[in-house]
Amino acid sequence: MRRSTTVYLWELAWILPSIAIPVGMLAALTVTAFGAGIHLPSQESRIVPTKVDQTPPFDAPGVREVGPGRYEVVLTAQIWSFAPNEVRVPAGSTVTFVGTSKDVVHGLLIAPAKANVMLLPGQVARVTTRFDTPGEYPMLCHEYCGIAHHTMWGRLIVEPAS
Ligand code: CUA
Repeated sequence: MRRSTTVYLWELAWILPSIAIPVGMLAALTVTAFGAGIHLPSQESRIVPTKVDQTPPFDAPGVREVGPGRYEVVLTAQIWSFAPNEVRVPAGSTVTFVGTSKDVVHGLLIAPAKANVMLLPGQVARVTTRFDTPGEYPMLCHEYCGIAHHTMWGRLIVEPAS
């Protein structure tokens, strides 16, 4: 009798957390998604992936000043590079990346700036971030995209504000 009570308590000690942990995670997900409105960067619009070169604005990738201290980077990803592969902005800039892929699934990660988005063929992604500290930031592809995935990176250079 005494022995089976011990077993029962041990089982309970495992069963209760294994119910409580998923319930807690689901609650956290619900609160952040619907309460705080936190979500992944999502699809902005669609594009025909085989016609990226002919579709504005991706027919002219590059950096544009869209307002005082505001820049837009139109970015295409293709095996195994970004266009443009180097971006220069002054410190204190707010930069919006508008990107898509011309072939397979790629990603764009600028870790210190907390920019992290997938670049999917057929979809346009948009992510906005701010660069206050001058320096060189690697722009990495962080989705495996083939044999030379590890060579797919560019640089974002934040120049001291004049
Ligand atoms: Cu592109 Cu990995």
